Amino acid sequence: MRERQSHVPNSIDNTMPKFRRLPQSPAPRLLGINIEGKEFQVPEGDTVAAALLAAGLSHTRSHPVSGAPRSPLCMMGVCFECLVEIDGLAHQQACQVQVVEGMRIRRGQGPLE
Ligand code: FES
Repeated sequence: MRERQSHVPNSIDNTMPKFRRLPQSPAPRLLGINIEGKEFQVPEGDTVAAALLAAGLSHTRSHPVSGAPRSPLCMMGVCFECLVEIDGLAHQQACQVQVVEGMRIRRGQGPLE
């Protein structure tokens, strides 16, 4: 019997994802989310940051001054490198929010206001 895939189906930036999921038993329930306009299935209980990294997102935001790409670093709410837009609400810490069905996520843009 083929094990159900518990990770997103492909990479969002056409690069190999740097992270892969370990097999889980029983397989977690999958939720449909939208990342940068593409649909993905991710395990219930994932944080947004984990879902983005597993989806192969190369960066989650751009530095407001230099424009340099930034990505989640601490995964525990300290560094603020993971700021994204979630369901139209800017500057959300992706590592502190769990995915929910239908969630729409976009890379963080611009300075904090
Ligand atoms: S990854 Fe550091 S605050 Fe989210």
